[in-house]
Amino acid sequence: MQRFAQIVGVGGFLPDRIMTNQDLERLVDTSDEWIRTRTGIRERRIVAEGETTSDLAARAAEVALLRSGVAPDDVDLLLLGTTSPDHLMPSTACRTQTKLGLTCPAVDIMAACTSFIYALHHGAAAIESGRADTVLVIGAEALTRLIDFTDRTTCVLFGDGAGAVVLRAADSPGVRAIVLGADGTGSDHLIVPAGGAARPIDHDALDAHDQFLKMNGSEVFKFAVRVIPRATLEALDASGYTVDDLAWLVPHQANERIIATVEERLGIDDERVYLNLANTGNTSAASIPLALDDLYTSQRLGPGDLIALVGFGAGLTWGAAVVTWTITSPEEGA
Ligand code: ACO
Repeated sequence: MQRFAQIVGVGGFLPDRIMTNQDLERLVDTSDEWIRTRTGIRERRIVAEGETTSDLAARAAEVALLRSGVAPDDVDLLLLGTTSPDHLMPSTACRTQTKLGLTCPAVDIMAACTSFIYALHHGAAAIESGRADTVLVIGAEALTRLIDFTDRTTCVLFGDGAGAVVLRAADSPGVRAIVLGADGTGSDHLIVPAGGAARPIDHDALDAHDQFLKMNGSEVFKFAVRVIPRATLEALDASGYTVDDLAWLVPHQANERIIATVEERLGIDDERVYLNLANTGNTSAASIPLALDDLYTSQRLGPGDLIALVGFGAGLTWGAAVVTWTITSPEEGA
């Protein structure tokens, strides 16, 4: 019998501290009006002193595991998508594994904002091939640690958070199709120049703020509106569905204007396109599972609903997944 991966639990976690656009007005030469009209973002969450990506990852994963009813000992594999690992070494997945009290293999997947879709792909493939029965897939970021809060072109965009899903083997879908893409010729458009083996941090790097994320915003914008519709249609086509069949399109939450352009190109009405970036900013690898957690907890997603998840990011990378939702949201107040 064919094996499929089903999402049997979802969880999310946002750090407590809220940074509003008004807070940013006090740090750089910007305005609430500029940020809202160019991006749709009103506020974002920021990690507390000492709080790390693995802390957020563990909190989101605890919720997903609890809701799935899966015992920690039954998790066969932990995949953690992130752009802001606790350290270059060891992996954030290993630090998360120990915070959760798990003993399974654990590894980071780094495809920037597409990391969650890449991790979902690898987790589903492990289940479909019979190498695993249960996989914990997390997207987690303390990305603001890599942001230069003197650079108005980037610091207004990003926020911190984590989301997670539990994948389990089943005899019906689940995850129906995933398409992934990468184009390294665009790797300089979105980059943290220093801090890796190509350029260890030295005084010159610190003087140039090269330990922080640098971005060519207009190139990333053009890339995003090109690849998101294409990847979504490819994943729908591979699973035998069309845009009309979707209950929800859940895009990476980077910029409301990117999402509006995508809506137009796909011909999908905005009631079926999920948006929460006004309150989270761009949480990179965490944005799609956090959106799923929102949809689940607000009871806007039910068994049998077809959803498309689509991400893009540094690399450049992109990916889309078509999934049939199989879990029932809890009653309000439960
Ligand atoms: N406040 C006020 N003015 C600003 C700000 C700011 N925060 N940032 C830039 N400006 C100014 C610029 O300096 C420029 O001024 P000038 O005309 O005098 O030179 C003007 O505003 C317009 O700048 P643009 O860059 O042309 O603005 P644009 O409309 O393209 O919006 C933005 C910029 C929001 C960054 C957009 O390009 C974008 O969203 N790009 C995609 C970014 C993205 O999605 N990145 C995440 C990828 S996922 C990952 O892997 C991390």
